[in-house]
Amino acid sequence: MQKDTMGGGQFDTLKMYVGLSGLGGIQMMESLSDRSALNNGVEMPRIGLGVYKTKDGDEVIRAVQAALQTGYPSIDTAAFYQNETGVGEGIRRSGLSRQELFVTTKVWNSDQGYEPTLRAFQTSLEKLGLSYLDLYLIHWPIKGKLKETWRAMEKLYKEGYVRAIGVCNFKPRHLDELLADCEYKPAVNQIELHPRLTQEKKRAYCYDHQIRVEAWSPLMKGRLFDNPVIVRIADQYQKTPAQVIVRWDLQHGIITIPKSIHPERIRQNADVFDFELAPEDMDALDALNRCEWTGSDPDDVYESGRLGGRS
Ligand SMILES: NC(=O)c1ccc[n+]([C@@H]2O[C@H](COP(=O)([O-])OP(=O)(O)OC[C@H]3O[C@@H](n4cnc5c(N)ncnc54)[C@H](OP(=O)(O)O)[C@@H]3O)[C@@H](O)[C@H]2O)c1
Repeated sequence: MQKDTMGGGQFDTLKMYVGLSGLGGIQMMESLSDRSALNNGVEMPRIGLGVYKTKDGDEVIRAVQAALQTGYPSIDTAAFYQNETGVGEGIRRSGLSRQELFVTTKVWNSDQGYEPTLRAFQTSLEKLGLSYLDLYLIHWPIKGKLKETWRAMEKLYKEGYVRAIGVCNFKPRHLDELLADCEYKPAVNQIELHPRLTQEKKRAYCYDHQIRVEAWSPLMKGRLFDNPVIVRIADQYQKTPAQVIVRWDLQHGIITIPKSIHPERIRQNADVFDFELAPEDMDALDALNRCEWTGSDPDDVYESGRLGGRS
């Protein structure tokens, strides 16, 4: 039988927060330390720093330090990013206690399967210099590997090496496959999501199954900053386009992980708690959806085991 140890009650509250009838609604948010309850009761920060394409060494160390000094409690890395060592160093230099942090990493496609996942986890933990992770994610769904990879994730969870387990880039059909034969449901599905790819169906599926949605490439890799609708809304609130998009995520109840290597942008992206987007502005941002992906289609990766197509 599947378990989500929280029993669903807090997700009923979540549904009320995010106004699931239209996937809109306003979530009460006070600060960067605000957290969302996962389906096992673990509290996950609503904003984290993404570090994809941030170089290992000084670049990632500085970015992580800037984020932690700003008050981001959460860092999102992956074995694939090849910067876990620097992320670990940035964490150590911050001087923060382990309990104050929320660290996510991911098992890469070529490491999927039961034993390879357990080995990959150990390698990630050693590179990060940590004794446990807050969230471990399957990076992409891979045909024929899902069940065994998830079994390894469940073992790590049950043994206390990771506080929550989840997936990335899972479409409902991949989640159906996982949910059909699992002991623990994923706590999070991290998917490409921004105003040009609003992913309503996946969000609705995830809310119905008590799986938190986390947005990757929330800023569409920097391609939305001259969009006239976003610029107009940004001017109206005297905020930047990046801040408007981060705020849009938060008001939808979506966990978000904007990436920057620049301390002033890292601070800017988190300075989103002194304004609230009006319903008509939320609607205008929702209406920008064009189902436009910047990354691979998960179905292609599922079939081939490789990233491809879009950059
Ligand atoms: N699970 C997955 O498959 C998956 C896939 C992709 C990404 N992710 C995660 O999601 C995170 C975020 O996605 P992403 O890195 O692809 O892109 P993103 O966060 O959508 O955009 C990052 C880009 O925007 C720029 N930027 C950030 N803040 C800015 C600001 N305030 N003003 C102007 N430019 C700004 C950054 O440049 P600078 O760095 O030069 O500031 C960078 O070029 C990743 O880092 C990673 O952790 C996960």
